[in-house]
Amino acid sequence: MNEKSPFPADFLWGTATSAYQVEGSPLADGAGPSIWHRFSHTPGRTHNGDTGDVACDHYHRFPEDIALMRDLGLNAYRFSISWGRVLPAGRGTVNPKGLAFYDRLIDRLLANGLQPMVTLYHWDLPEGLDARGGWRERDAAAWFADYARVAFRAFADRVRLWTTLNEPWVVADGGYVHGTLAPGRRDLSEAALVSHNLLRAHATAVQAYRAEGKHDIGIVLNLEPKHPASDAPADVAAARRADAYMNRYYLEPLVRGVYPEEMPEIFGAAWPQFPEGDFQLIREPIDFLGINYYTRSVTRHDPAAPPVRASGVRQSGGVYTETGWEVYPAGLTETLLWVRERAGDLPLYVTENGAAFPDPEHVANGRVDDPLRIAYYRAHLGAVLEALRLGVKLRGYFAWSLLDNYEWSHGYSKRFGLVHVDFATQRRTPKASARFYAEVARSALIPSGSPP
Ligand code: BGC
Repeated sequence: MNEKSPFPADFLWGTATSAYQVEGSPLADGAGPSIWHRFSHTPGRTHNGDTGDVACDHYHRFPEDIALMRDLGLNAYRFSISWGRVLPAGRGTVNPKGLAFYDRLIDRLLANGLQPMVTLYHWDLPEGLDARGGWRERDAAAWFADYARVAFRAFADRVRLWTTLNEPWVVADGGYVHGTLAPGRRDLSEAALVSHNLLRAHATAVQAYRAEGKHDIGIVLNLEPKHPASDAPADVAAARRADAYMNRYYLEPLVRGVYPEEMPEIFGAAWPQFPEGDFQLIREPIDFLGINYYTRSVTRHDPAAPPVRASGVRQSGGVYTETGWEVYPAGLTETLLWVRERAGDLPLYVTENGAAFPDPEHVANGRVDDPLRIAYYRAHLGAVLEALRLGVKLRGYFAWSLLDNYEWSHGYSKRFGLVHVDFATQRRTPKASARFYAEVARSALIPSGSPP
C-alpha cells in the first residue's frame, strides 16, 4: 500500500456478481427453481429469450474466476447465495450439495486472499415460495430469516461481511410495478406490501444474525440523485417524489423507522396502513450500508409516468452508457454525502458501480480495449476519493462486474464485465479496464492520463 495513498490501508477492492447472473446450472445437484428461472423461460420476457441456464458457468469455473481476481490483485469479492440451492423449496429441507458449493467457493476465496461479502438475496426467490404468495406475504420475513439462519450457521465462521437484500427498490419496482423483472407482476398495491415485507425480512434476518454471527451485517440500496429538470415547481415536486420513491423509501425506515411523507401521495389508494410495531423492527440497527451507484436522473413532471408522475430527461452533451444511463461521477460523491447526512456515522461500502458499453465483439490479439469503461471507472473512483477526503466512512469499493454476465431481461446483450466472456466458449479475457482497476487496487492511487 502506498504511503501517499488517500485510501485507508484496509480498504476493500473488489468486484461483485450475483448467483443467477453468473452461476448457470440453476437446477444442478438438487437445487430448486427460482422466479428468474421461470421468468426467463417464459416466452417474450427477456431479450432474445436468453436465460441464466449457462450464464458464465461460474458454478463449475469458479476456481478459474477466483484465480483471475487474485491475479488482478483484488482483496474482496461480493457474490450472492442462491436461496433455492440451499433450500430447494425455499423452506424446509436443506440441500447439503447446495451448501457444499458455497463452502468450496468461500474456502477458495479465503485461500486466495479474497474477503467474501455475501448477499443473501439478489432477486432469485425460490419458485415454491412465490407459489405461496412470495414477498406479498407477511410470512416471507420468517421464511427469509430461516434461510438466512441456515446460511449463517454454515458460513458465519468464515464470512465477516453479510448483506441481506440487494436493491429492494428494484425488486418491488421491476418485479411488481412495471413487471419487467421476475416475477413480472404489475400491481401497485402488491408492490407496497412487497417493499414493506422486504424491509421486515431484512430486519428479521439481522436479528437472526445477532444470535449466530459475530461480525457485520447490512443491506444494499441502489441510490441515485434526482435533480429537477428546471426550476418550475412541477419539476421540483416531481424530483422530490422520485427521490422519495427510489431513495428515501428504503433509507428512512431503516434509519428512522418511518416512510417518507410523500408515499401516500405517490401510491394513492394503493398505500395501506402498516402495523405500527413493524417500524420498530425495521429500524433494527445494522453495521454498514452498501450503496449501488450507477447514475443520476434529471427529472421532470410527467403525468404519463406512474406511479411517481416523473421521468428522466436526456442531457444534451451528456455521455450515456449502453443501458441509457448518464455518466455522472459527481453523483456518487453527492450520494455518499447524502447518506451520511441521514445515516450519520454508519460505515459505507460502494457495493456496485460500473457501466455497460458496446465493447468490441471479438477479442483481438488477446485484448479487449474498452476506453469508455476505463474513463467511467477513473472518474467514479475519483468521486470516491473526494468523498473520503470529505471524511465519509467508506470501507470499500466493488466494481460491477467481474464478468460480462446475464443482465436480467437484457439477457447477454449488455456487457458490464471487467473481464470479457465469450459465451460460446466460456473463454475469459481481462479487458483493458481490468488492468486499469488492478493498477488502482495495487497502488491505491488513481493513475491519470492514458489507459494502461
Ligand atoms: C443490480 C445488478 C445489475 C446491475 C446493472 C444492479 O441494479 O444489482 O444485478 O446487473 O445493476 O444493471
